[in-house]
Amino acid sequence: MSDEFGGIMSINLSGMKAVLLTDLTAIREAFLDKADSFADRFNHPLNEYVNGVKGSLIFENGKGWKLHRRMTLRALRNFGMGKRSLENKINEEARCLARSFQDENGRPFNPQPTVQNAVANVICSISFGSRYDYDDPEFRRLLDYIKVFMEQLSGPSLVGAFPRLWFTPLYKSLKNQNDECRTFLRGLVEQHKDSFDTNDIRDIIDVHLQENEEGGAEENIPQSLIWRGIFDLFAAGTDTTSNTILWGILLLTQYPQVQENVQQEIDDVIGRERPPTLPDRLHLPYVDATLMEIQRFRPVACFIPPRAASVDTELRGYTITKGTQVWANLYAVLHSPEHWKDPEEFIPERFLSADGKRTETREAFVPFGAGRRICIGEQLARMELFLFMTNLLQRFTFKIPKEDPKPNLAGEHGITLSPGRFRICAVTR
Ligand code: HEM
Repeated sequence: MSDEFGGIMSINLSGMKAVLLTDLTAIREAFLDKADSFADRFNHPLNEYVNGVKGSLIFENGKGWKLHRRMTLRALRNFGMGKRSLENKINEEARCLARSFQDENGRPFNPQPTVQNAVANVICSISFGSRYDYDDPEFRRLLDYIKVFMEQLSGPSLVGAFPRLWFTPLYKSLKNQNDECRTFLRGLVEQHKDSFDTNDIRDIIDVHLQENEEGGAEENIPQSLIWRGIFDLFAAGTDTTSNTILWGILLLTQYPQVQENVQQEIDDVIGRERPPTLPDRLHLPYVDATLMEIQRFRPVACFIPPRAASVDTELRGYTITKGTQVWANLYAVLHSPEHWKDPEEFIPERFLSADGKRTETREAFVPFGAGRRICIGEQLARMELFLFMTNLLQRFTFKIPKEDPKPNLAGEHGITLSPGRFRICAVTR
């Protein structure tokens, strides 16, 4: 459609007017040059019905959101985003994941549940100080719910088009699971309250409790709503990163030469025994380029959660009226022939300098969005992708089982683009 109508279009989305941005210039103009006018999220009625908007990091707007975002960013940094302490924790989790792959003894298995659990454990340990065994049935139910939530509750879904369906028997089971998830998170906040010690701030829930204790300012998230922001971190931080790792595994089975090059570079720089460290990344340009190409080729956030114009604004010669929802199509930018040669090919070398010794990032590489609401977990996600993938590829070569059909690389669309169900054999190197 953008070939015909250009990089900015107006579409009718389930009866609501929406503006769709598909080229980088329009996205940059809106989210960077006119950042003040497009920093709000659009509030789809479904958000209100499912978990409410108040206390949400993703959906709230205005002063409350700004303070919440600032506080969470500070907390993420304090709890190790980009630091050695968190590196150790992620490496430990990656070793657990590798052990569970090892237990399959080269037999075919679906890697989704364990990869999702391993990634969830990282955000859980920062948010509420716990990790869960991969066979914990209660946590498995929550993770299954998050997966279905991400698959079924996007704006362009059935319930997105007819939000009141949420209250009908059609969604009863999902609604029950959502209630269970909420109860679980509220329970964690209660437990934290009982054991709270202002001299020992353990995780993000404690940071919230401390803010409340110290400030009591109006802008603080009330205790009864702390669970809401934690839900956002849990949902946004789990399926995005785990689906990117799953895409990585799947794509490497389809591009064995890339897999071999990645393993060779890891062998040369780190070897097979020592755990990877963040500074290693600088010496692993091919690995780094491959991770970027995975995110470009199959970006899990094809669309950002829609923004809204907070005032009447001019954009590329059109007037966008206050309140209109604005969707940015990141997939289109990451696959635009204007920015990428042979965009439908998987070529990690596109991110390497001419001598192959450095990675070169590109203006059109925007898998985490842009501007005021750019992903808050970008640095954490990049750490996880690097450490999990490097740990796994030190130990295994991934293959699709001989008896399985060639996997479909189109993916399945929900809030995130997932690779769908597939099986692999993890062959010990
Ligand atoms: C590969 C992994 C990830 C990808 C591709 C990704 C992508 C995105 C994108 C595209 C947005 C919207 C940005 C915009 O509006 O411009 C976003 C927002 C957000 N992400 Fe991520 N994300 C990832 C991992 C994470 C992690 C690990 C966390 C947890 C800390 C996280 C938490 C959030 C939150 C809370 C927001 C909303 C920010 C706001 O509205 O102020 N994300 N992410």
